Formats: sequence, structure tokens, C-alpha cells
Amino acid sequence: MLSSNIRYIGVDDIDIDLFEGQYYVPSGMSYNSYVILDDKVCVMDTVDIRKADVYLSHLKEALDGRNPDYIVVHHVEPDHASSLQRFLDQYPDVTIVGNAKTFQMLENYFALGSAARLVVKEGEKLNLGSHELTFVMAPMVHWPEVMMSYEGTEKVLFSADAFGKFGARAADEPWDDEARRYYLNIVGKYGPQVQSVLKKASALDIAAICPLHGPELDETIPHVLDLYEKWSTYTSEDDQGVFIAYATLHGNTGCAAETLANLIDQTYDRDVMVADLARVDSAESLACAFQYKRIILCASTYNAGLMPFMEDFLHHLKAKNWQGRVVGLVENGSWAPMAAKVMKGELEGLKNMTIVEPVVTLRGAMKDTYIPDMKQMIESLLNA
Ligand SMILES: Cc1cc2nc3c(=O)[nH]c(=O)nc-3n(C[C@H](O)[C@H](O)[C@H](O)COP(=O)(O)O)c2cc1C
Ligand SMILES: [Fe+2]
Ligand SMILES: [Fe+2]
Repeated sequence: MLSSNIRYIGVDDIDIDLFEGQYYVPSGMSYNSYVILDDKVCVMDTVDIRKADVYLSHLKEALDGRNPDYIVVHHVEPDHASSLQRFLDQYPDVTIVGNAKTFQMLENYFALGSAARLVVKEGEKLNLGSHELTFVMAPMVHWPEVMMSYEGTEKVLFSADAFGKFGARAADEPWDDEARRYYLNIVGKYGPQVQSVLKKASALDIAAICPLHGPELDETIPHVLDLYEKWSTYTSEDDQGVFIAYATLHGNTGCAAETLANLIDQTYDRDVMVADLARVDSAESLACAFQYKRIILCASTYNAGLMPFMEDFLHHLKAKNWQGRVVGLVENGSWAPMAAKVMKGELEGLKNMTIVEPVVTLRGAMKDTYIPDMKQMIESLLNA
């Protein structure tokens, strides 16, 4: 319970294997919903239809015999709105609150029929008695219709997908890692739109944030806002350490990556994180590439191009507007190494990237003869 008047009625989904059909969520996912109990009763979003029954039972318990007056749809995506029809069947006299785009998009999923609607715009208010909501539009965080609402009496920001994380609430994990992996993969592309919402949020006195996934936030709000500032401006969190991502067919390039990691750790005394792109969750590797400023990409040449896992990785990074990093390259190829040239070509299409020299070229097995080039590349990388 957040307060006696604002209650949590969401659910943990621990049966889900992939969120949005692609992201591993080893500790599940929460779909959050809240109810404000005042002269008027206002429900904030529903949950994924996968968990509609549990949700409706939580709602019924919180309502304690009352009926909801309003249901605010902050985000139409099915992880939050796919139980709306079930909700309306049970509470047909409710008024649906959304913006013009909300209703356009809801009609794509449901036949809303005669359900009462309240269309709100930026800055408009909804009085519930001693609580009052002010609506804040948040387009593309994460869909075009997304809006947030700010409750002025208890100073609560209902932030939609922003400030959410992967993982069930019951898992009670540290916030940063799973929030980073969630944000950068799901919203990462839309940094400027997140920036404009952060600007609006900075004018509000916020005591608590209620996102649509993960725990409510209070004391950690300054830390969380600082991370969102970095993520939405594509600024790294770790300027000293190195992230090494590799894609290898027969393991030789992997061996080179491990050699580089040992050198960075032992000779240069910097933190290092290594990921085999074929085996580490690609969403996690993407989050690491945003976390670190200094990256080494190592790939085998494959049919005159790139080992597909590296090709894929670069494609994902590009799609999320990855930029402003310092990158070293290692390639492997037995007869006509091409991997570095292809990686360079991909990186040149990104903003403010620095590619350091020399590129290290292996012709098969990892040998000590490559170490002087590797050291030179690491020094360029650390000094850039
Ligand atoms: C399917 C396949 C395609 C390959 N294509 C090329 C190529 O186009 N050019 C090249 O120089 N080497 C090519 N190679 C050779 C590898 O790049 C070489 O074996 C290298 O040492 C692989 O490093 P790894 O053990 O890290 O995968 C290919 C190897 C395989 C298995
Ligand atoms: Fe979403
Ligand atoms: Fe969501």
C-alpha cells in the first residue's frame, strides 16, 4: 500500500518467458495498476490480459464494495490495457480517461461502444475530491499516446512505462541493472522525447513515482533521475572501464577477447566486462554498450562479411541511436579478413564515434605475436 488512499492493485507475472516477445525476464515482470480512493474512485491502468483474473480480484478487494468512477489509460500497449474490456464488462458505468490518441488507439483493440469518455489534454486537471490529477503528455515514452499524471496532494507521479524495470516486484532486486536493460532496449531510441518529459517533471515536486512496471520509487528519485538524464542523452555511466563484445565461430576470436580482458585488468588495471554475443542475452549486451564509454568489438570474418551475432548486435545498437563511444576493433579471417572493415562501415553511420588504431587482425589462432598490437590498441582506447 502506498498510502491509505492510493493502493497498489497490480500483478506479478512469473510465468512469462519473453516480455514483448523478445526480452528474457528471468525474475518475471510486473504490470502495475493503482487505485485512488477519494470522493471519486479512479483506477490507473489495467494489466496484461494474461493476468486479468488476479487483477480484477485485487481491484475488487481494494474497492471494498465501491464502484470506480474513472479508469485512466496512460498507455494503450497490451501489457497495460489488454484487460480493459474485462474491466468495462465488470464496471460498465466507469468513464475512460485518455487523450485524443488514446481513444484512436483503443478503438484498434476494442469496440468501446457507449463507454463514457473524458478526453484530456496537456495540463488539464481531474478533481477526485481531496486528490487532483494533472495530465502530462509523454509521446514516444514509449508509444505516441503515452501520458503521465501527477497527483498534487500526495505528490505522486504516475509515470507510465518511464522509470519501470524488468522483474517481478516480489523478486525485490537492485533497481539499476534491470531498469537499464529495460529502458535502453524498450525506450532507448527516443532520448529527445524522454528529455522533454524530464524537463516537465523537473517543475514538479515529486515525493513518489509510480511506474507501470517495477517498484514505486521515493528516496532513490534523485539517483533514478540522474540515470535517466544519462541514458536519454546517450551519456555513458562508466568512463574508465572497458566492455568487450565478441562473436566467434571456432573460439579463436573469443580467445583474443579474453587475452585483451586480462591485459586491461592486469597491465592497465581497469575494470573489464566481456560478453560472448552468441551466449549472453543480447538485451544485456546492448545495455552494457550504453553503460561503458570504451568498447572493444571482436568478430570473425564470415562469408566475406561479419559473424551474424556481431552483425545483429551492431544493428540493434544502431536502432537505439547508440553514439558517442570510443571503439577498438579486432578481426579474424584466414584468407581475406573483412570483419573490421564491415564494423567500421557500420560505426561510421553513428554519431560522434571514435574508432581507435591500430585495428588488430588475427589470421586464425590467438598468438603472442598479436600482443604488441593489442597493447597499442588498448592504450589508444584508454587515452582517447
Ligand atoms: C562459415 C565460415 C565462413 C568464413 N568466411 C571467411 C571469409 O569470408 N574470409 C576469411 O578470411 N575467413 C573466413 N572464415 C574463416 C574464419 O574467419 C577463421 O576460421 C577465423 O579464424 C575464425 O575465428 P574464430 O575461431 O574466432 O571463429 C570463415 C569461416 C567459416 C566457418
Ligand atoms: Fe510500453
Ligand atoms: Fe509497459
